[in-house]
Amino acid sequence: MFSSNNRDYNYLVKFHNEVAIITGASSGIGLATARLLTRLGTKVVLAARSQEKLRQVSRGLSGSLVVPTDVTKERDVKDLVRRSKEHFGRIDILINNAGQGYDSSVEKIDLKTYRRLFELDVLGPLIAMKEVIPIMRSQKKGSIINISSGAAIMFLTGASPYTSLKWALITLSRAAREELANDHINVSLVYPYVTLTNFERNTIKAGVSRGEPAGWISQLPHPPDTAEYAAKKILEAIRRGKAEVFAHDWMQPIR
Ligand SMILES: NC(=O)c1ccc[n+]([C@@H]2O[C@H](COP(=O)([O-])OP(=O)(O)OC[C@H]3O[C@@H](n4cnc5c(N)ncnc54)[C@H](OP(=O)(O)O)[C@@H]3O)[C@@H](O)[C@H]2O)c1
Repeated sequence: MFSSNNRDYNYLVKFHNEVAIITGASSGIGLATARLLTRLGTKVVLAARSQEKLRQVSRGLSGSLVVPTDVTKERDVKDLVRRSKEHFGRIDILINNAGQGYDSSVEKIDLKTYRRLFELDVLGPLIAMKEVIPIMRSQKKGSIINISSGAAIMFLTGASPYTSLKWALITLSRAAREELANDHINVSLVYPYVTLTNFERNTIKAGVSRGEPAGWISQLPHPPDTAEYAAKKILEAIRRGKAEVFAHDWMQPIR
C-alpha cells in the first residue's frame, strides 16, 4: 500500500560532497537544480543531449561532470550511471528530470512520437532507477527524485499523451518508494506547476493549440513559477524525503 508519510532523510543526504545525477541539466528546471545543488557543495553530473550547452554550464559549476546523454537510448542511460560511479565512486541522488510535452487528442496521437516520448518520460527514468538502485543499496543510502507534472493529476483534454506518461512515472515511483524503504533509498515525486522554461516551446503540438504561451499563461488563475522556484521544491523533496512534493499546496488532490 502506498504511504504518503514523510520520512526524515536529513541523516541520509547532507548535500556537501554528495553526488547527484541530473538529467535535462542543459536548461530550465534541471539547470536551476544543478546550480542550486552546486551552491550547497554537491557534485553534479550534468546529463542532456546538448553537449556544448552542458560544457558551458559545467564551467560555472565547480566539480561538475558532463555526460552527454540521450535519455531515449538505453545504452546512454546505462553509460551515464556507470561513468558517474567511475568518476565519483558513489551516487547519492538521481534526479530524473529530462522530459518533453506532447499535446494531441487521443485520436490523433502519432504512435511513433508517443513511443519516443515513452522512452524519454518513462523508460529512461526507469532504466536510470534500475541502474542506481544496486549502487545506492550497497551505500545504504540514496535519493531518487522523479519529476512528474501537476498536469498528470488533472483531467486535461488534448494533453493525454504527456499526462499519461507522467502518470506512469507516478505509479512506478510510488511502488519503488515502498519497495526500497528498507534499503534506505528514498523515492520522491515532484509535481511542478506551469514553469517559465523552454518546456512550452519544446512541447510537440499535434492539432492542439492553446495559442501563444504569453497569452494563455497570463490568463492562468495563479502566476507561473520560475525554474529556480521548482528547483527549491526538488531540494525540499531530497531534504525531507517526502513521498510527493507539489509546487503549491493547492495542487494537492483531495485524498
Ligand atoms: N515547465 C513546465 O511548465 C513544467 C511543468 C510540469 C512539469 N515539467 C517537467 O519538468 C521537467 C523539466 O522541464 P523544463 O520545464 O525544465 O523544460 P525544458 O526547459 O524544455 O528542459 C528539458 C530538458 O530535458 C532535456 N531533454 C529533452 N529530451 C532529452 C533527451 N532525449 N535526452 C536527454 N535529455 C533530454 C533537454 O536537454 P537537451 O535538449 O539538451 O537534450 C532539457 O535540458 C520535464 O520533465 C517536464 O515534463 C515542466
